[in-house]
Amino acid sequence: MDLRDKIRNIKDFPKEGINFKDITTVLKDKEAFNYCINALAEIAKEVEYDIVVGPEARGFLVGAPLAYATKAGFVPVRKPGKLPADTYSYEYELEYGTDTLEIHKDAINPGDKVIIADDLLATGGTVQSTINMIEKLGGEVVGVYFMIELEFLKGIEKLEGYNVKSLIKY
Ligand code: PRP
Repeated sequence: MDLRDKIRNIKDFPKEGINFKDITTVLKDKEAFNYCINALAEIAKEVEYDIVVGPEARGFLVGAPLAYATKAGFVPVRKPGKLPADTYSYEYELEYGTDTLEIHKDAINPGDKVIIADDLLATGGTVQSTINMIEKLGGEVVGVYFMIELEFLKGIEKLEGYNVKSLIKY
């Protein structure tokens, strides 16, 4: 299956000049969704891990089913103020301004082997911050897997030295 055919392109969303990759059309298609998660699970066989970390919100849609399919646990990385227990926060730079992500401090234990799953690699800021938080808590990131990589944004440059793979590249 070519997942590319299932991803909907929305011109000028959320602002002019951006060609938004809409994965809702993959998620609602039972064959495409199944194919996508199975393909990621197949790639993830190259490593051993106990936890899949997914960044809010679309990372939940890819990460949680991948964790379930591969019998791993799932840990959410969330936008500020959403996680109820003790959190570790990480603020990172955007082109204009900053953003913050949070993880429960007890979600990762030292020595845990972890993979990260998300729908999309763009500038790499989200996943770089997610890696930083996992490592701060003593986890080891053994794989970083995406449905889509926007190669022209060069997010991969922020992830040097990590095992990064994606199903589709634009
Ligand atoms: C999107 C996407 C990735 C991130 C990629 O999430 O799901 O997590 O952006 O961008 P980056 O590589 O430039 O960091 P978004 O922050 O739009 O949140 P959402 O999943 O809640 O829509």
